[in-house]
Amino acid sequence: MIYDYVIVGTGIAGLNAARYIPADKKVLLICKKSPWECNTFFAQGGVACAVDEADIPAHVEDTLNAGVFQNNKEAVQALSEHSLDSIESLINGGMQFDLTNDGELAYTKEAAHSKNRILHADGDATGREMHMFLLKSCPHEVVTDSIVIDLLMQDDICYGVHILQNGKDKIIYSHNTILASGGVGSIYRYHTNSTTIAGDIQGICVEKNIPLKDMEMMQFHPTVFVDSPNARKQLLTEALRGEGAIIEDEEGYGFLKNYHKDAELAPRDVVSRAIFDHSQKNETQIYLSFKKFNKKFFKKRFPNIYKDLKEVGFDLPFERVPISPAFHYSMGGVDVDLNSKVKGYKNLYAIGEIACTGVHGANRLASNSLLEGLVFSKLAVNESLENNFKISKKNYTKEIEYFTLLKNSDKAIKNALRNLMWTKVGIVRSMQNLIDALEEVESYLEENVGRLLFLRLLTAKSIIRSAINRKKSIGAHYIKENL
Ligand code: SIN
Repeated sequence: MIYDYVIVGTGIAGLNAARYIPADKKVLLICKKSPWECNTFFAQGGVACAVDEADIPAHVEDTLNAGVFQNNKEAVQALSEHSLDSIESLINGGMQFDLTNDGELAYTKEAAHSKNRILHADGDATGREMHMFLLKSCPHEVVTDSIVIDLLMQDDICYGVHILQNGKDKIIYSHNTILASGGVGSIYRYHTNSTTIAGDIQGICVEKNIPLKDMEMMQFHPTVFVDSPNARKQLLTEALRGEGAIIEDEEGYGFLKNYHKDAELAPRDVVSRAIFDHSQKNETQIYLSFKKFNKKFFKKRFPNIYKDLKEVGFDLPFERVPISPAFHYSMGGVDVDLNSKVKGYKNLYAIGEIACTGVHGANRLASNSLLEGLVFSKLAVNESLENNFKISKKNYTKEIEYFTLLKNSDKAIKNALRNLMWTKVGIVRSMQNLIDALEEVESYLEENVGRLLFLRLLTAKSIIRSAINRKKSIGAHYIKENL
């Protein structure tokens, strides 16, 4: 049998794509573990949206400014224009965003936005609420515990995917394949991502020569509580700073004003580097302080952060929390056109964090990622429905390859890779460190590693290669010699 659509990933992009595919189509959504093991589920702050038609130019301008004008302007325009109908369609379907006391949509502010235009849900659990809404309304079949280990590529056509479902090989043919598997978080030592997100599919793309773009553009979130044993570190949403939280050093000195006129609300890359620089120069721990908040407001506006931090011993908003930047989001990814179709391929699409639509440029504007997932999933589905491409199984003549997922030595190399990416391909880079990192990754690739680690290593290699190729600092890619 041949599916009409296979969607790899069940975050906001994959689930929203499923929502737009007619119920009479045969669709399979594949998720690696459980559906909520995705980055959408952990997104706190919100979803950006032009407040009205008149706000579109300002939203576009803010996105370009944050992205240091490396963005694809047409894609940014599409993002903002479609934000209104995308959000309206969710609300009409029953999604509940937080409201003001007057019953109007409550917009908050995040860094580098010139006005309040971030919608949120259950205070600081926007991703979780949107994810639950989309999952409940998903009209198609979802399979769990299924790892995509290969894409069936021949010439310019994708014939489907090879998965390991509960450890068993399965070949799934499909007329259309949509990649919506997220970014690369787990290849970094400190990150805010779901632990299932490890750049596997980007690795397959490297292997199959499917084009990747802007892979050096890795975003580090400035305010993360990293001092916990969990692999996924606790994010402290930018909306906290939007509502008045302050970044300070051990002495209580708010140093960000020395780095950017917008201080706490400067673009994310600037704030992350300022924290890195100030803490190194002054050998000081950095904190997020909430002294401007009263407890009642804090608990209502940020109920989940209040609860999560209480569990690890903090009495918010009275105590400050030690923070560090941590890997958060991959701006680079599979090179796609304005309908999220992979360039050079007939029936392959990439949406959400795995895609590089160009909307984020060199630094993503806060809360544009959930929006990108919504907008480009719909555009991709519309295009594919119009395209109506059909594969024929007999035209796929390649042998199916079989792989060992994990090998004994993987764990040590995986951890070494995470440290290497954090220390040498992180917030502040040097050419020498990048060259050393490339050599090290190449040596790991010569070891007898399992399939998943092999794919991670290919993804890491493509990030490092892109970073080496971009000689000058811009946005999230910051090169400093003599580190
Ligand atoms: C945050 O809540 O600070 C993260 C939002 C985002 O990554 O856009």
